[in-house]
Amino acid sequence: MAQPLIERYREYLPIEPGEPIVSINEGSTPLIEAPRVSDRVGARVLLKFEGLNPTGSFKDRGMTVAVSKALSEGAEAVICASTGNTAASAAAYAARAGLTGAVIVPQGKIAVGKLAQSLIYGARVIALDGNFDDALVLVRHLADNFPIQLVNSVNPYRIEGQKTAAFEVIEELGGPPDALAIPVGNAGNVTAYWKGFTEWDTAPLLYGFQASGAAPLVTGEPVDRPETVASAIRIGRPARGDEALAAFEESGGRVRAITDEQIIEAYRFLASEEGVFCEPSSAASVAGLFVHGIEPDGDRAAPGTIVCVLTGNGLKDPDTALASTPGVIECSTDPTEVEEAVFGDRSD
Ligand code: F0G
Repeated sequence: MAQPLIERYREYLPIEPGEPIVSINEGSTPLIEAPRVSDRVGARVLLKFEGLNPTGSFKDRGMTVAVSKALSEGAEAVICASTGNTAASAAAYAARAGLTGAVIVPQGKIAVGKLAQSLIYGARVIALDGNFDDALVLVRHLADNFPIQLVNSVNPYRIEGQKTAAFEVIEELGGPPDALAIPVGNAGNVTAYWKGFTEWDTAPLLYGFQASGAAPLVTGEPVDRPETVASAIRIGRPARGDEALAAFEESGGRVRAITDEQIIEAYRFLASEEGVFCEPSSAASVAGLFVHGIEPDGDRAAPGTIVCVLTGNGLKDPDTALASTPGVIECSTDPTEVEEAVFGDRSD
């Protein structure tokens, strides 16, 4: 049975003996071989499927630590800005801890499953007439002025929890991969992986990928109106952007952009060729390898083993799946029509 993440990695986490632990048995996610992706990129590629966490994304790793700490420090409420996954995770861990949860999300811009999760876990869900970056400014203001704990990844406990994914990868492979490919939004996760890798004296190449309509780290400029089908990474002013850029540089890796079409192509490829259904944003890690190749900049050797982080579960965003596939074949009960429906030609 999966152990609570804090128990598994207690010695590396800032949780004191006797402190309360708020856990839904997060972490210990599988590292899945991806033979068809491997063929396409010319290296061994494995998928760290974070979509199998309790709320369906990697956020649960950071949230178990952040909400445990909030509880132990006497907080009564937690708040976050979110493109959807942090909201769902904060709502679940707040529920588990008996705390009030409030989440601020960009109105009409988060996947329907994430909205449903946040609501059913019992959070107060505020749909903001603004984007994620606006929401983050507002929750920082609230946390500074009211007794409510901020659980975005600007909270250092989130990074502490999320770094454990790097530990799991190292343990499972018996050493670090040569490279890690990862989608980048607010830049907390890549910062956390880098912390985890360096704490265990390893330094794989980091390949980060942003959607081209929301790629401030690639262009070097904040984006006022970020736009992408990958709604989870629709972020124009990443809070941990500077740390992420330093990590890319130190690792010898890079950060690059891919288009929405390239993201959707990788998203469909992962589902239809590997049987792994992740969110569009998660597929950015694989799209980036397909589009930009694996040769590192400079004189480092090309990586032989690459881990792609699949940050969230595809079930969260059924609308994008339905919109990017051919759709159902409607059919009467007439056997001939059924035969035609089952065996007939079908174009994509
Ligand atoms: N993938 C998914 C599925 C995400 O939900 C996020 C971020 C990222 C990648 C990027 O991670 O921000 O640490 O660079 N989602 C946040 C949220 C912003 O509110 O759920 P990052």
